[in-house]
Amino acid sequence: MTPSDVKATLSFSDGSPTMDLPIYKGSIGPDVIDIRKLYAQTGKFTYDPGFLSTASCNSTITYIDGDKGELLYRGYPIEQLAENCDYLETCYLLLKGELPNATQKTDFTKLVTNHTMVNEQMQFFLRGFRRDAHPMAIMTGLVGALSAFYHDSTDIHNAEHRDISAIRLIAKMPTLVAMAYKYTIGQPYIYPKNDLTYAGNFMRMMFATPCEDYQPNDVLVRAMDRIFILHADHEQNASTSTVRLCGSSGTNPFAAIAAGVACLWGPAHGGANEAALNMLEDVRKMGGVEKIGEFIKQVKDKNSNVKLMGFGHRVYKNYDPRAKLMRETCHEVLDALGLHDDPIFKLAMALEKIALEDEYFVSRKLYPNVDFYSGIVQRAIGIPVSLFTAIFALARTVGWIAQLNEMIGDPEYKIGRPRQLFNGATARDVMPIARR
Ligand code: CMC
Repeated sequence: MTPSDVKATLSFSDGSPTMDLPIYKGSIGPDVIDIRKLYAQTGKFTYDPGFLSTASCNSTITYIDGDKGELLYRGYPIEQLAENCDYLETCYLLLKGELPNATQKTDFTKLVTNHTMVNEQMQFFLRGFRRDAHPMAIMTGLVGALSAFYHDSTDIHNAEHRDISAIRLIAKMPTLVAMAYKYTIGQPYIYPKNDLTYAGNFMRMMFATPCEDYQPNDVLVRAMDRIFILHADHEQNASTSTVRLCGSSGTNPFAAIAAGVACLWGPAHGGANEAALNMLEDVRKMGGVEKIGEFIKQVKDKNSNVKLMGFGHRVYKNYDPRAKLMRETCHEVLDALGLHDDPIFKLAMALEKIALEDEYFVSRKLYPNVDFYSGIVQRAIGIPVSLFTAIFALARTVGWIAQLNEMIGDPEYKIGRPRQLFNGATARDVMPIARR
């Protein structure tokens, strides 16, 4: 970390001694004030629920400028990666810090491809679930269960174990998501086919049956690959911070990633793509474009608890760059499938237009996020709504692993242990039950 010449001085109105706090500069982005010695020197904690002003780690992986609407993976703009690279190149970049050359790409692709099958026992594990289980409930279980199958890659402090578990997780996530889907619809599992691309193989495992093979359509495969790239990492969001916190106890990588899957499920995070599409369906049922005004009124009413799903972001206070790319992909996919007049897409565009002009959204800097359009693309591809978040988890797995490995390799890493401002009862005596 690069120290700044400037220091922050903390003073107290009660005359307690002041404290100088070092400031560190990043390569870009806000400086940070180092408060690590604050408690030891002042006996006080900082208070920051939701981490609005707290950098929990230092990282070299992903940078977001929320005001500009910029997203960089290892310095490369997301737009350039989405145009010029595929998902496995992006995985290599996130894990190793540089884009692969042609040989490295071939070797990495081969390595991942060699691990696409899951242990046959996994099928029996799946059978324990009800057929109507939510795919994210299944995924949380299956990813956690991987640690019971691969005992040779569970030591988070062993670099070789971390490398092999990373490849296994990236390779097996598409297989597990497709298995979760096939299980819920009662179809036989389709084994991976290693001469297909990462995205093509996933789509085949999803849509082929033993009686009818699936011919991947290039536009749809490219769209799926783009969804993977756009969701691959997003710095210290809730699920990534969960993975880091979980991994900080030294638990195995599969367990830490399972914690990330569980966190991602929530509707304020990865579950938003499912919630956004459900919301569009609800507005369509209310009467579609005609009823947008009425719907927006509900969104603005604080007592209604209705949110415009797919809008707003903790970090982006501008158009989410991923949403722009996803909107473009949405056009390509709907054109390729001859669905230009898709009512949900039309509704989304009309809703976006109104929200971008409405004072409520403008003054709060609420713009569409990636989830506003990704659901429409996935639905057009034929993916059921309940599987959207599982696909997000599949794509984000590489980001979680890169962040976990970065944390373990950081000499300053410690088990995560936040503190609290306690406002509960002070010490008191237990009364015998007859006197309570
Ligand atoms: N619809 C209506 N009002 C909103 C929305 C929304 N989607 N998002 C924020 N607001 C309002 C909020 O009520 C508050 O208003 P006020 O100042 O009058 O109280 C103001 O905007 C600031 O919101 P906030 O809740 O303080 O913002 P936050 O940074 O804590 O929340 C968020 C960010 C993403 C949780 C929130 O915008 C939201 O719930 N959006 C809908 C869910 C969604 O699309 N999530 C996907 C995020 S992108 C995918 C990912 O990376 O996981």
